[in-house]
Amino acid sequence: MTTNSQIPRARYLAGSSRLPDVSPVDDIADILDALPLPVPRITDWPGVYRPDVDSALLCAAVSRELLGHREMPSAAEICAGSGIASIYAARLGASVTALDRGRRQVAAIRINAARNRTRVRARRADVRAPLPLEPVGLLFANPPYVPTPVDAADTPAARAWNAGGRGRDILDAIIEQIPTVVRPGGVVLLVHSALNGVDETLQRLAQVGCKARVTRRHSVAFGPVMRERSEWLRDNTFISAGQAVEELVVVRGLQMR
Ligand SMILES: C[S@@+](CC[C@H](N)C(=O)[O-])C[C@H]1O[C@@H](n2cnc3c(N)ncnc32)[C@H](O)[C@@H]1O
Repeated sequence: MTTNSQIPRARYLAGSSRLPDVSPVDDIADILDALPLPVPRITDWPGVYRPDVDSALLCAAVSRELLGHREMPSAAEICAGSGIASIYAARLGASVTALDRGRRQVAAIRINAARNRTRVRARRADVRAPLPLEPVGLLFANPPYVPTPVDAADTPAARAWNAGGRGRDILDAIIEQIPTVVRPGGVVLLVHSALNGVDETLQRLAQVGCKARVTRRHSVAFGPVMRERSEWLRDNTFISAGQAVEELVVVRGLQMR
C-alpha cells in the first residue's frame, strides 16, 4: 500500500497517445484546488478506485451544495470508493454515510476518513438491493458508468467502471431508489458520462419526482479503459471514429415530492 500526500497532478493523461485540446493536464488538482478546503490525503489501495476527474467533479459539486448551508443536511454517498467526496461533506459539517459494495472500499473509506480527521460512517451496500438508509437531505454518487461488453472480465477493480451494455445499470439503480432514500426538498448529485445519455438521466429523475438539470460539463481525454474499449464503443455507436475525448456531466436533482 502506498500513500499520496495529495491527489497526484497530471495522472489522468499518463500514457495518453493523443493529447486533446480540451482537458488541461492538471484537471484533478485544478478542480480540487479551486475549492476553499484543503485537498484530503487519500490512501492508494489496490482495487479501490483512485480519485480521478469524475471524483473531483463530485467533490466540487458536494462542496458547493453544502457551503453556506446553515443547517447541514444528513448526507449519503453511494458507490463511495475511497470516500473522498464523503470526506468533503463531513469536513463541511454534514453527517455522512458512505456506502459501497466492496469490503476493501469500506475499509479504505474508514482509513481515509480517519487520516483526514473526519467522521464518516462506512457500510457495505449494493445499490441493486434496497439501501440501508434513512431518507437523507443530500444523496451523491459517482457510480460506474462505462458501457461494457457482456464478455468483459468482472474483477473487483473493474467493478468501479463496468456498468452494463449502456453504462446505466448502476446509475438507474440509484435513481430508482431516490423516492425512498431522499427526503422531500432533498438534493441528488450524480456524475456520469454524456455517453450514457444525459436526457435519459433527466427524464428518469423527473419520473421519480426530481426537478433536474446539468450543473457542470467537463471534457476529458479517454483514460485507459475507454482507450482499450474504443473499438467496441465505436462499433456500438457510443463514440465516433477517432474520438478520444468524452464529456462528463454533473446532474443536480431537487426532490419535489
Ligand atoms: C467510479 S468509482 C467512484 C468512487 C468514488 N465515489 C470516487 O468518486 O472516486 C465507483 C464505485 O462504485 C462501487 N460500486 C460498483 N457497483 C456497485 C454497486 N452495485 N453498489 C454499490 N457500489 C458499487 C465500486 O466499488 C466503486 O468504488
